[in-house]
Amino acid sequence: MSVSLETIMSLAKRRGFVFQSSEIYGGLNGCWDFGPLGVELLRNIREQWWRAMTLRDDIEGLDAAILMHPRTWEASGHVEQFTDPMIDCRTSKARYRADTLIEDFIERLRKKGKHDQADALQARLRAATTPDDYYAIIAEAEIPDPVSGSRDWTPVRFFNLMFKTHVGPVEDDSSTVYLRPETAQGIFVNFKNVLDSTRRKLPFGIAQIGKAFRNEINTKYFLYRTREFEQMEMQYFIPPGSEQQYFDYWLNERLQWFLSLGMTSDALRVRPHEKLAHYATAAADIEFRFPSGWGEIEGIHSRTDYDLRRHQEYSGKRFEYTDPYTGAKFIPYVIETSVGATRSLMAFLCNAYSEEEAPTADGKTELRTVLRFHRFLAPVKIAVFPLVNKDGMPERAESIYRELLRRWKTQYDDSGAIGRRYRRQDEIGTPFCVTVDGQTMVDGTVTIRHRDSMEQERIPEERLVEYFSQQLS
Ligand code: GAP
Repeated sequence: MSVSLETIMSLAKRRGFVFQSSEIYGGLNGCWDFGPLGVELLRNIREQWWRAMTLRDDIEGLDAAILMHPRTWEASGHVEQFTDPMIDCRTSKARYRADTLIEDFIERLRKKGKHDQADALQARLRAATTPDDYYAIIAEAEIPDPVSGSRDWTPVRFFNLMFKTHVGPVEDDSSTVYLRPETAQGIFVNFKNVLDSTRRKLPFGIAQIGKAFRNEINTKYFLYRTREFEQMEMQYFIPPGSEQQYFDYWLNERLQWFLSLGMTSDALRVRPHEKLAHYATAAADIEFRFPSGWGEIEGIHSRTDYDLRRHQEYSGKRFEYTDPYTGAKFIPYVIETSVGATRSLMAFLCNAYSEEEAPTADGKTELRTVLRFHRFLAPVKIAVFPLVNKDGMPERAESIYRELLRRWKTQYDDSGAIGRRYRRQDEIGTPFCVTVDGQTMVDGTVTIRHRDSMEQERIPEERLVEYFSQQLS
């Protein structure tokens, strides 16, 4: 079903998935805090990715520091090229990414059926490389500021997205370091360390999860474009000549990962890049259909030997690999898979959201909101209820709750009608609810209610641990 972003954001706040950072001080734009349920969901996403990447015999894990030697970012090209074109409206004082301003204008042209004009602008945007190129498009197409309608624009300037800070007490140029804008460089600079310490042979990969920071000009759509976020990246080192084979392999693997965790195929698509970096041989995005439209959640890139070669050049350390079978020496090529953990959390949240009619106890129907998370991702796995707060049921239910809580994130709820308690759990995506009722007190069986089908089954209380062990692993 299609759901609005406002609905997702409101549920995320009300139920404790995501809060605005420093909200009591008015918030900090582009930064978000993960609440009790959000932190579980994020951990589960990371866990599934980590398992998919490292429980195989060709990938090692890594956790590199966020602060790196500043030469890293010169070698990677980020100091020179990690920029966005920025433009200000003198009337409204609003600031925009020039390329986004143009893209939004093109979108509006298409909605009005002006496809020729939109295609022409799209082609010019694709070819734009300098600030003047972007400015010329905006001026000639007479693109107005969406806020004020004014066309009084400043010139376009390139703005570097890396956050700067300083190491040590003196704040001068020699102490400048950057908060990493991607985790990938921590992997490249450790290539030799991992190779030598594990005695790996090609092909093999290095996987890493961690925070990244970008001083985005415009933050966008909740968790979609933020200034602090988390990435899950893997660099797969391969012999030159095998890049197409491994690019296809990893694109498919990553697509299957999203599908295996409950994303529906109509909410995902692959978009090959039209414009490739000069060193790349292929690149594609996996896109998700967000409430605001299609947006990238993961990039798969065939990067040749560009990164290792640049680090070899800037560090003076050799990154050459000797093939143990042929004796051939070469710098490995790389296929990169790069997914945003926090952006994909937003995608999983949107994908799970559903509103549907559900029967009530008195034979009527009501609207229920359900987060149909895959059970591996659900922040709370099980809820335990006593049917009524008497006749020994609360004590029995609490003892079951404590037993399950030792293994899985479990909640106990004894307040309100049982139907209300089911609705509260549906809304946070809990896949199983266990109820202790009168029959439990007689024969020791409990009901398990399934979130999606709303069907119930009875099983002996002593089989619960075995049952959930099968369902949740
Ligand atoms: N090492 C390659 C790299 O960083 P990217 O396309 O810039 O590639 C990869 O980023 C992924 O990181 C994106 O697909 C997205 O999921 C996430 N990402 C990038 N910038 C982000 C931002 N400002 N906020 C949230 N997630 C972001």
